[in-house]
Amino acid sequence: MPEALATVDGVSDQPGDGAADHPDGERLQKVLARTGFGSRRACEELIADGRVLVNGEVAQLGARVRPDDEVAVDGAVISTKVDGVTYLLNKPAGVVTTANDTHDRPTVVSLVPDEPRVFPVGRLDLDTEGLLLLTNDGALAHRLSHPSFGVEKEYLVHVRGRPSRSALRRLREGVELDDGLTAPAKVSVMAPGLLRLTIHEGRNRQVRRMCEAVGHPVLRLARSRIGPIADSRLAPGEWRPLDRSELLALQSAVSEVSPDRPS
Ligand code: URA
Repeated sequence: MPEALATVDGVSDQPGDGAADHPDGERLQKVLARTGFGSRRACEELIADGRVLVNGEVAQLGARVRPDDEVAVDGAVISTKVDGVTYLLNKPAGVVTTANDTHDRPTVVSLVPDEPRVFPVGRLDLDTEGLLLLTNDGALAHRLSHPSFGVEKEYLVHVRGRPSRSALRRLREGVELDDGLTAPAKVSVMAPGLLRLTIHEGRNRQVRRMCEAVGHPVLRLARSRIGPIADSRLAPGEWRPLDRSELLALQSAVSEVSPDRPS
């Protein structure tokens, strides 16, 4: 069973009774309404139309679910946590991507509200700017950072010099680094010395090392997109919560089945 659709607690109901139905759980239409799918009546229709899965099985009207149950609407797993929160931050250079810094430098966590407690999804280098997600949804964070889910990350990269065609080809074919060959990057030249580079792996300092390896050290690096999420109007240091359609797009980006995904 794909991880995205597996039950977390491994509890299954009687054979053949369809999706999980926990008498002590919350009514499914109420959970859907709370997470933004419209009125309870509209959510009942979603269920009746067979568009809602619980733990991979079509949900029945009247089903009750627990927080551990995996709920999907139209194939996209949704976060049902009552206090689930995901922020998009435009990280300025000089801010560390950790919760606490031993050298007392500002951290990304100090730029967003204290409660509920969130943690960064993946990492940007101290000098890298741009978009970073912070969430308290561990499953979402895991899927977004695991390379097998193939979520694209797009960067604007100022490099030293003007990359030749052969340097660009090397980036597009994959670059041999000391930890192995990278996957091919998508690369376009925005201006002389300015590249838009998209990768889906998350190796340490990957973009800097790839550009350095083809002879063009990075002068400035900013992440401009994470999967379906972009926002060119968010100023450095600013953050905002993701809206419902962004959350759904993100959940959908990490629920598509990939052949090399661990199950
Ligand atoms: N690649 C890098 O080299 N640094 C980052 O911060 C992100 C991607």
